[in-house]
Amino acid sequence: MAEQKSTNITWQERVVDRAAREAHLKQRGVTIWLTGLSGSGKSTVAVAVEKMLMDQGRLAYVLDGDNIRHGLNSNLGFSPEDRTENIRRIGEVAKLFTDAGVIVLTSFISPYRADRDAVRAKMQAGDFVEVYVSADVPTCESRDVKGLYAKARAGQIPEFTGISAPYEAPEKPELVLDTANQTVEESAGKLIQYLRDKGYILAK
Ligand code: ADX
Repeated sequence: MAEQKSTNITWQERVVDRAAREAHLKQRGVTIWLTGLSGSGKSTVAVAVEKMLMDQGRLAYVLDGDNIRHGLNSNLGFSPEDRTENIRRIGEVAKLFTDAGVIVLTSFISPYRADRDAVRAKMQAGDFVEVYVSADVPTCESRDVKGLYAKARAGQIPEFTGISAPYEAPEKPELVLDTANQTVEESAGKLIQYLRDKGYILAK
């Protein structure tokens, strides 16, 4: 838990509430939390789902690990403590977007179960959907889209997830996407079907 440094602050109530925004958007705000190894396909699936939803007139927004680490979290590295803080901040951002009525897709390795559970615990029931983007190390390493596994094997990247740092797979994710055996379209389609089945996307 981050230290509360500010004092003399009062929570400001608002006139326009979440229900009004959701009625306006004809969708339910939700955080789709994608977790998995580097190269498992989190960002690819997130971007595909965002595009499909936008084509269907929905408002979706991807928060991506590499991108957020260029800005908001540029002062964080890959130690366990920094990863925890990375996920904590993203959890807060995702919570705000969810309250705004947006379908948020987060794409972070988020290797520690406790960090993901802490985000879930901060959100209302049903607002956090954990999706395990499942591809094992050999599969991700054979893709090696960014060439990072080769660097990690060569000892050039310390604490690399799956090689020299742990990855704790979800025990009870709402959804598993087996990207080793599915196309991007199949994985994205399954995710959108889940949102329909569970009533996150309402008829327009
Ligand atoms: S997390 O573990 O804190 O959730 P995050 O998703 O933000 O990680 O960032 C992961 C991305 O950072 C990877 O996709 C990769 O491009 C890059 N990266 C750089 N160093 C590491 C490392 N040591 N372990 C994992 N990913 C790394």
